[in-house]
Amino acid sequence: MKAWNGHAVICFLDVIILILILTSASFFYPSFSLKIGETCSKDADCDPGLRCETCPANGNTRPRCTRIRPVIPTTKVKGLAFNKYSWLTTHNSFAMSGGTKSGTGSFLLAPTNQEDTVTSQLQQPAINVLKEIQAFLAANPTEIITIFIEDYVRSPMGLTKIFKAAGLDKYMFPVSRMPKNGGDWPTVDDMVQKNQRLLVFTSVQSKEGSEGIAYNWKYVLENQYGDDGMVAGSCPNRAESGPMNTTTVSLVLVNYFPNNPNSSQACADNSAALINMVNTCVKQDGKRWPNFIAVDYYQRSDGGGAAEAVDEANGHLTCGCSNIAYCKANGTFGSCDIPTLAPPPPAALPSRQSSPGGGSTQFSGADSNNRTALLHWLYGALSTLIVMLVL
Ligand SMILES: *[C@@H]1O[C@H](CO)[C@@H](O)[C@H](O)[C@H]1NC(C)=O
Ligand SMILES: *[C@@H]1O[C@H](CO)[C@@H](O)[C@H](O)[C@H]1NC(C)=O
Ligand SMILES: *[C@@H]1O[C@H](CO)[C@@H](O)[C@H](O)[C@H]1NC(C)=O
Ligand SMILES: *[C@@H]1O[C@H](CO)[C@@H](O)[C@H](O)[C@H]1NC(C)=O
Repeated sequence: MKAWNGHAVICFLDVIILILILTSASFFYPSFSLKIGETCSKDADCDPGLRCETCPANGNTRPRCTRIRPVIPTTKVKGLAFNKYSWLTTHNSFAMSGGTKSGTGSFLLAPTNQEDTVTSQLQQPAINVLKEIQAFLAANPTEIITIFIEDYVRSPMGLTKIFKAAGLDKYMFPVSRMPKNGGDWPTVDDMVQKNQRLLVFTSVQSKEGSEGIAYNWKYVLENQYGDDGMVAGSCPNRAESGPMNTTTVSLVLVNYFPNNPNSSQACADNSAALINMVNTCVKQDGKRWPNFIAVDYYQRSDGGGAAEAVDEANGHLTCGCSNIAYCKANGTFGSCDIPTLAPPPPAALPSRQSSPGGGSTQFSGADSNNRTALLHWLYGALSTLIVMLVL
């Protein structure tokens, strides 16, 4: 319970930061030139969507341009059902160990820590977060937002009231239109056209009946989260979810993050290990690629990271290729353009040379919370914004 409360705070921070930055609309791009895998000395050396990073946890000490945002799938393959796309889901982008506040987000919130009660977290932050989501949806009429709520709201009609107070009721995708037997969702275009652009899932089953808010695991299959979900080669469902191969449920969410967020380990976790886990889950869930991939510190990797994992899922889902980058424009399913890539430079710096102490490659909290970097990802990445919001 306490662990979730901790995540709750973290997730609020994410949401607040994401939305505030998006709505501030003052975009700044440095000049850029370097591609993924090329060695760099600072973020600004790299193309948009990339950061200059090392991953010492993987023995990757040479700073290289690494990806922080996926391809927007609807720019490559348009008009498919919502469940035919995959979205990066930020479980926890910011360091928050031991109750340390996010450098970027803390000024936006009343002081919070992992010990306070859920109720106190809910008083201001929840409504603020939701109002920001409202502002985002109003300003971006083709965006869709999905919120997964780890729901501790006990007051009668509490969620309904807070969504209404935030002006979000009119965007809610109705439960009545959610497929109940494993069928396809409406298309993203249809959702946009009807302005039903906010998907909300609650962890409390009874609220589907009492408040008309979708019960998460009736619509979403989900593997085990935390340390138990990180055992290579196995992808058990979390207790609340049906088995990963349940065919009557249309959406699949893959969690891949440890019980305790670890910012130095995240770059390794979010790289080959994440892709391996996604593949393991796909085998186990009857060859279905995840619609949501939830990680901590989504910007950290040793190269392609979570963005690459999402692109791979989107390739398989949308056009039958191993990466959405290979989908042919208007091509038939399974016709792919696979480029030949130059091999990346060696991961490690030559021996005897110490890793540079430059700020841009440090795994400091401040750097990972860099608003400019976040902005880069948001600016280009989101035709659908997925946030994991834990109330
Ligand atoms: C954030 O990153 C940008 C480029 O990615 C850099 O120019 C800026 O100085 C960084 N800001 C902080 C506070 O680290
Ligand atoms: C799901 O997998 C389990 C074992 O992994 C198997 O017993 C079951 O028949 C499968 N169900 C479906 C619907 O494929
Ligand atoms: C975090 O990850 C790093 C790198 O893998 C490891 O050395 C460290 O022990 C981890 N910290 C905790 C608290 O687990
Ligand atoms: C793909 O189809 C759209 C709509 O039919 C058309 O506007 C576009 O030019 C096509 N693109 C290519 C590369 O064929």
